Amino acid sequence: MNVTWGRSRPSPVRALTIEDLRRGARRHLPRIIFDYADGGAGDEITVRRNREAFERLAFRPRALVDVSNRDLTVTVLGDRLASPVLVAPTGMAGLCWPRGEVEAARAAGHAGTAYVLSMYASCSIEAVAAAATGPLWLQVHVWRNRDTTRALIERARAVGCRALVLGVDSPLISVRERDVRNGFTIPPSVGVRQALDVARHPAWIWRRSCPPQPAATRERALSRSRRSPAASWTLASPGRQSVGCEASGRGRSS
Ligand SMILES: Cc1cc2nc3c(=O)[nH]c(=O)nc-3n(C[C@H](O)[C@H](O)[C@H](O)COP(=O)(O)O)c2cc1C
Repeated sequence: MNVTWGRSRPSPVRALTIEDLRRGARRHLPRIIFDYADGGAGDEITVRRNREAFERLAFRPRALVDVSNRDLTVTVLGDRLASPVLVAPTGMAGLCWPRGEVEAARAAGHAGTAYVLSMYASCSIEAVAAAATGPLWLQVHVWRNRDTTRALIERARAVGCRALVLGVDSPLISVRERDVRNGFTIPPSVGVRQALDVARHPAWIWRRSCPPQPAATRERALSRSRRSPAASWTLASPGRQSVGCEASGRGRSS
């Protein structure tokens, strides 16, 4: 990974690992935003369990096999992906980077994989679809107001969104202790503490004042194959929405 923080005077950071990226984010984002992105529900026991469970996963090495043709491609919900890794939905990615969802969709397409757009994105579905070069899926929570949900799905279909990822983990809003301590609210309320936090990160403010880069042409989105987003996948994210439960993937059959 070769990541550049800041647009005006690039100071390249070689991010070799996800932990490098995390450290870079901690330095460059106001704390209230870093904690929103990094924090989990409650005292983050389930986040820790998730990490430990993930670390326990192991590959079984096979020696003396032909590795001249290595192929990670998979087909998921009808889309051929370059690897079995896709970009999960993250709400309000624009807090971390201007037009965060647009950039993330571009990056996912570049990596040959799918981008799952959060229904709480800071960019419109249309803007993200115009920039996406790979498969674009939409994460939906079914709201009480079915007409609003239906209208969103219609917009997704119109721009060529290819699958729906149904979120089932948020019947209630979780309490994230870091957010409570930092006074993170939606919509944001800015007090002295939050203003000082932001003021300590001029590069973050500066990026916001730069005009957005033009999105790719809309034609690209419209040329995407018009398959109804009939395929769907269910998403639950223990750790961010609930605390004290089993790690992801443990004790679940699917
Ligand atoms: C900052 C942040 C925002 C997220 N926003 C959403 C969201 O809007 N919708 C959603 O379904 N999941 C959201 N998630 C959950 C992720 O998509 C993902 O399911 C979760 O992080 C667990 O994935 P992991 O086990 O790979 O970490 C968010 C996660 C993070 C860290």
